[in-house]
Amino acid sequence: MRYKRVAAVAIVLTGLGANSAFAQDTIKIGIVVPMTGTSGAVGREISDATKLYVAQHGDTVAGKKIELLIRDDQSVPDNAKRLAQELIVNDKVSFLGAGLTPSAMSMAPIATEAKVPTIVMVSGTSVVTERSPYYVRTSFTLGQQSGIIADWAIKNGSRKAVSILSDWAPGAEAGKVFEQNFTKGGGQILETLKVPLANADFSPFLQRAHDLQPDTLFVFVPAGQAGTFARQFAERGLDKSGIKLIGPGDIVDDDDLPSTGDALLGVVTAGMYSTAHPSQMNKDYAAAYKKATGHRANFISVGGYDGMNLIYETLKKTGGKADGDSLIGAAKGMSWESPRGPISIDPETRDIIQTVYIRRVAKVDGALRNNEFDSIPAVKDPAKARMKH
Ligand code: PHB
Repeated sequence: MRYKRVAAVAIVLTGLGANSAFAQDTIKIGIVVPMTGTSGAVGREISDATKLYVAQHGDTVAGKKIELLIRDDQSVPDNAKRLAQELIVNDKVSFLGAGLTPSAMSMAPIATEAKVPTIVMVSGTSVVTERSPYYVRTSFTLGQQSGIIADWAIKNGSRKAVSILSDWAPGAEAGKVFEQNFTKGGGQILETLKVPLANADFSPFLQRAHDLQPDTLFVFVPAGQAGTFARQFAERGLDKSGIKLIGPGDIVDDDDLPSTGDALLGVVTAGMYSTAHPSQMNKDYAAAYKKATGHRANFISVGGYDGMNLIYETLKKTGGKADGDSLIGAAKGMSWESPRGPISIDPETRDIIQTVYIRRVAKVDGALRNNEFDSIPAVKDPAKARMKH
């Protein structure tokens, strides 16, 4: 009899435990980004932007309380994997946010196994979204921007280019798509130079590029390295060499421009975000970001901000139902206005479709800005657009 009563109490307790876990009054979002080291700026920007979104939109959505958990993977993929595992098992997160490409790659099997929807907020490598059916991207791909700047360069007379690429997956992809479009347009790549990712020293590569006398220099450096690059570019006299510097938006990162000096003045890039994007929504975003952080909003920050919008809107659509399949179903085909302009999630690939702008660095009121002067709407990741044909 006594045994029976204890057992009954135990069953009731277990039932309650399971029930409250199931009902989940709090939705936790675990974001894994580098907060320290060479790419520490990336983590700061994502952390700031996601917190700003919650501050502006409230910490309750579809009747659920939202809790952000930010974890530092120090750019080490094994750390990212372990942190994702801990966030799922110990913290019971309903969403993950993924950062740099190598970390996003290593987290994918964990997200798939646990069916946790994961917002790719930073990575710009095409293949990342194919690594898990629970991945959705709100950042960008390097291909999206590099093909467009190649076409622009050809149209504007470039024929002989040297590429300088940060030596990891997004750099390889930027270089590949640039080369495809540039050679298709009748241009020639004289040489491709690869710069180590950690402790990047661009000087010897810039010297080599100078010696080759191209008409155009195509460069990809990741967020956080534009300042170092610009200084070394000027030290080698390349800003006065007549060689046209172009690239995806990363080389003129708005967070770095205030400290680059005038070396990048006039540089044309293809990018998905400019602090100077003239929409009302962006004016409000850039002002609020500056006020909250003291920094300029940049192209990394909008990946985090829009990632939060995707989370809020999918939860509204599912009425707070937080299982992975319902949430990913809700994310497919979603479209909204971002501070960068109109964006949507490709329902077939879960990758971002967005406007890519051609911009020129100019000085406005004494400060360097990326001024948009042309735009290509609804650009898909070119690798995926090709796959379908
Ligand atoms: C990436 O992780 O793929 C990445 C990071 C920073 C960038 C571009 C790409 O600026």
